[in-house]
Amino acid sequence: MSTVVSLPLPARRGARSPVQRPAPRLALLGTGTVGSAFVARCERLRAQGMALPAFAWLSNSRVLVNGEGDPRRAVEEARAAPARAGGRPPWVENEGLRSDDIVIDATASDGVAGWHSEWLARGIHMVTANKLGNGADLARAQAIAAAQRERPGVHYGDSATVGAGLPLLRSIRELVAGGDRIRMIEGVLSGSLAWLFDRYDGSRAFSELVREARDAGFTEPDPRDDLGGEDVRRKLLILARAAGVPLEPHAVQVESLLPEALAQATPAQVDERLVLLDADLAERRRQACADGAQLRFVGRFDDDGISVGLRALPDAHPLCAGRGTDNLVAIGSCRYREQPLVIRGPGAGAEVTAAALLDDVLRIARAAA
Ligand SMILES: NC(=O)c1ccc[n+]([C@@H]2O[C@H](COP(=O)([O-])OP(=O)(O)OC[C@H]3O[C@@H](n4cnc5c(N)ncnc54)[C@H](OP(=O)(O)O)[C@@H]3O)[C@@H](O)[C@H]2O)c1
Repeated sequence: MSTVVSLPLPARRGARSPVQRPAPRLALLGTGTVGSAFVARCERLRAQGMALPAFAWLSNSRVLVNGEGDPRRAVEEARAAPARAGGRPPWVENEGLRSDDIVIDATASDGVAGWHSEWLARGIHMVTANKLGNGADLARAQAIAAAQRERPGVHYGDSATVGAGLPLLRSIRELVAGGDRIRMIEGVLSGSLAWLFDRYDGSRAFSELVREARDAGFTEPDPRDDLGGEDVRRKLLILARAAGVPLEPHAVQVESLLPEALAQATPAQVDERLVLLDADLAERRRQACADGAQLRFVGRFDDDGISVGLRALPDAHPLCAGRGTDNLVAIGSCRYREQPLVIRGPGAGAEVTAAALLDDVLRIARAAA
């Protein structure tokens, strides 16, 4: 008697897999300025007919809300939720995510960033505006890179972390993949500090401008993250690591703008202590003007080191060309040896950041289709 053994047929090119994978869903962490703008953008484009993954849920530090109905209403519900009395964040036990889902991190939370590599390892894609994934400890950035290597089809979308979606990280990675070596990155990397020093013409106190930038949503949730140089440090680390240079945070020399009493203030004291910035910056501006220079907050990385701080640059310097919240970055490499590659454009604000998050989501959804 003969036995017929049926073997699986090799998949035909272009043929559909017999087992349809469930469509990816979105899980949003953070319903603040950026998270809300992200949901608003998704729903606006969905209403215009764009095919977008559905929301599974949305969460902040207080509550997790089902997003399958009306995501805009879910955001409102999450934002109105009462404070949570300690304990683990609500999504930790209830996330119910499956591989191919997409987590969007629109928080500034170190705890959430600590989960990025864990989600990737489980086959869940990550899209993040939170710089504490690739821009904090080197070990964490390396864990994220290792998780991506181990799951090649799983994506980590971080274009919103630096330049709010300007093609900075993409360009650096493509140059490196093409065999180039990045020798120098120099730029105005903080949209909020770019805006502040562009506006700072002596007619208003610097502290007043900081309040205006904060109220317009240009600064980090705590403006000291910008003024202390921490935000630029993280961005510079992300860029340097994308260029293949595995730097630790302490390698960056940071010149903070914060006087000690402001740096040490509790969150409730920050607003009243902003005036402590004014005298020193007024003097630095006066000196810069006398020298035919302009103040710009600059991050620089090259073979000699990596630093962040306020610089007085000659009026004609390319980094003085940006206006408003423009980010302006010069990249020098073996290919761009004589003239750096310069990338410039709006680099702050909830709208452009939300658009960058959605671009990453759509890249992932297209790759998964
Ligand atoms: N604003 C901008 O223009 C801009 C531009 C580029 C990048 N970014 C980045 O985008 C991120 C969000 O900024 P934002 O301005 O939207 O901040 P935000 O308005 O302060 O919102 C932060 C959100 O994160 C939530 N959150 C904090 N810890 C959490 C946790 N453990 N689990 C779940 N949710 C948590 C907060 O929840 P609660 O409300 O419950 O506290 C809040 O909803 C930051 O990483 C920032 O650096 C912002």
